[in-house]
Amino acid sequence: MQTESLQANDEGFARAAQILRSGGLVGIPTETVYGLAANALDGAAAAKIFAAKGRPADNPLIVHISKFEQIYDLVAEVPDSAKKLAKAFWPGPMTMILPKAPCIPNEVSAGLPTVAIRFPSHPAAQRIITESGLPLAAPSANTSGRPSPTTAQHVLHDLSGKIDAVLDGGPCGVGVESTVITLATNPPRLLRPGGITLEQLRAVLGTVEMDDAVLHPLKEGVRAVSPGMKYKHYSPKANVIILKGNDAQYAAYVNAHAEPGVMALCYNGDDEKLQVPAICYGGSTDDDAMARELFDALREFDEHGASTVYARCPEPKGVGLAVYNRLMRAAGFEVLSLA
Ligand code: TXA
Ligand code: MG
Repeated sequence: MQTESLQANDEGFARAAQILRSGGLVGIPTETVYGLAANALDGAAAAKIFAAKGRPADNPLIVHISKFEQIYDLVAEVPDSAKKLAKAFWPGPMTMILPKAPCIPNEVSAGLPTVAIRFPSHPAAQRIITESGLPLAAPSANTSGRPSPTTAQHVLHDLSGKIDAVLDGGPCGVGVESTVITLATNPPRLLRPGGITLEQLRAVLGTVEMDDAVLHPLKEGVRAVSPGMKYKHYSPKANVIILKGNDAQYAAYVNAHAEPGVMALCYNGDDEKLQVPAICYGGSTDDDAMARELFDALREFDEHGASTVYARCPEPKGVGLAVYNRLMRAAGFEVLSLA
């Protein structure tokens, strides 16, 4: 199949909507990462997403809407907690999980009794949902296991020839996937950290638990609440190792291990002290920049043929928690303490 490249203009939006209505797959920009969209009410269309991405069949999809009222058709019940979260954070980078309505095909919910719903803030995403007239199931538009795509070029790199089209809306602003919170448990529980922080969720809902899988690898034999958490994720081909220490300790360690194939993922300014090629992904306290740059950086290491990447990682709070969560997975939880 030839993948069409669509522009964010009247013609491009009309074509994207037409493909989606006829059961096809379109890569779409959102404020977090690019999504691979299909009609969420059509099990056969959703099944094509799994085939194109090589996604395990037990990993459910997020359903995207472009006005709040659409949620009433998709879930069994809308509790007060959902209304409060929507009022505070929608449209925006937050996904909530609720018991599903019967119209949600098993392909979308991967057999679970719940469904994930998100109302993105990106104007192009909203327009595609509205013009198609459908709720859209969309996981990140990467090959399963690869870093999520933050540009249309990333989508084409992974999925060209496997999807009908991609609509180019420029680079994504948040850069990591949405915050996922389940309201199907009491108290609510954070399953995946993102641009809306745990601190912000607690300010609206009071008690919100953090799932173990946010900070830790899943223990052998434990069932994942969020199936996506159990897979090795976000991995460049290189072996990523997180180094914990101050500026001087970081530079000394990297330089002592400088050899061909070794690269660094570091804070702005670190690179001047390093004897290996480096990608800076933000200032040492600029979590938003790190979130925005992380996945592009991970992809770039592949292009440079890196074999080992020594990475600096922010503290697990605020948006830094989302960066920490993704980078820990990219590193297979390999951390070296230099202190
Ligand atoms: O920002 C985002 O959320 C992007 C854009 C495209 O909206 N989408 C995205 O989708 O990241 P995906 O499929 O890559 O990640 C969805 C996550 C997975 O970890 C999945 O297991 C979890 O949400 N999830 C989806 N439905 C769920 C459910 N019913 N119960 C528990 N976890 C669920
Ligand atoms: Mg994904």
